[in-house]
Amino acid sequence: MIESLPSALADRELDVESFESTGPAAAPSAGAAGQAAPTCDLEHDLAHARVLVVDDEARNLRLLERVLSRAGYVNVVSTTEARGVAARCAEEQPDLLVLDLHMPEHDGFAVLEEVAALGPSSTTSGRVPVLVLTGDLSEDSKLRALALGAKDFVGKPFQEQEIVLRIRNLLETRLLHRALARQNALLEERVRERTQALEDAQMEVLERLAAAAELRDDDTGQHTERVGAIAARLATTLGLSDDQVALIRRAAALHDVGKIGIPDSILRKAGRLTPQEHEMMKAHTVLGARILGGGHSAAVQAAERIARHHHEKWDGTGYPDGLAGEQIPIEARIVAVADVLDALSHARPYRPAWSPEQVGTLIRDGRGTHFDPAVVDALFGEAPAQ
Ligand SMILES: [Fe+2]
Repeated sequence: MIESLPSALADRELDVESFESTGPAAAPSAGAAGQAAPTCDLEHDLAHARVLVVDDEARNLRLLERVLSRAGYVNVVSTTEARGVAARCAEEQPDLLVLDLHMPEHDGFAVLEEVAALGPSSTTSGRVPVLVLTGDLSEDSKLRALALGAKDFVGKPFQEQEIVLRIRNLLETRLLHRALARQNALLEERVRERTQALEDAQMEVLERLAAAAELRDDDTGQHTERVGAIAARLATTLGLSDDQVALIRRAAALHDVGKIGIPDSILRKAGRLTPQEHEMMKAHTVLGARILGGGHSAAVQAAERIARHHHEKWDGTGYPDGLAGEQIPIEARIVAVADVLDALSHARPYRPAWSPEQVGTLIRDGRGTHFDPAVVDALFGEAPAQ
């Protein structure tokens, strides 16, 4: 339990002179108790720092509250309930805990253990600093408290100037940590923004390349965009996350980027392709994966998987790798359906558009052989009239 404070100090009315005698270094604000505007951000932040004082003696709490109030601190709360301190620290995120060591039932060591178990606070990289205020300054107690995370000690009866200075020192460090944590968070946010901008720029170049490839066999140039939109709807129906849906929408549009490497004589041929031409046409999957290969962003990596595998078939008879079932990346299984649906629904230079019924029949017939049954079900669950 905290010892009784010396009556000379406890009973003393702390006047302006005693406050000023602590000197400017001890005062968080030039005007105590918020009576004058703060002189700078640090002084303002110090004055508004949250201090939680824990002592089982209410009288001691009142005394320290008065000392801190006269020193300019406006955010001081205190409690005699040691058991709830860790929970309050978690909820209120104080900048400093002033803790009595010897209290009945739940002592300061127990509180230190509970506070240590909370880990770093959400606003700084460190735990709430703890100033131990005790009459027990034995080596054992100090070592035990230090091992549990105590940052500083003040013996009782305390010197007013000393405790104000020590509190200020701890709060300054705390506020610097908090400012550093804020700065780090800001820098991380900027790095995220720049990284996103770079990824967007990379995707844009690839999308333009895909558009160039597409213009050669789709005069409207809208197939890639529509495949992205259909694939995103299917992904949503299949229960994929919003992030995955957004990724698939963008990556799906690049599925045929490899066609940039296929000669017009094959790409725009009106008649049936010879077996050799068909083999060359199939190479657009591998070419596309090569164009998109080595990307660092999730979107480019997904686009690479889609470009390579969107002509694989559920039963393993597709190309280029003959993957089957769930060996085929989910994005590619989705795009396989979206691509066929959109391609056949629109005219190409070498064939007219299919009717919705014809397209629907072909996709239904391919359920479990060409297409992933779940993706086909997602399509018809969403558009059963196809
Ligand atoms: Fe393709």
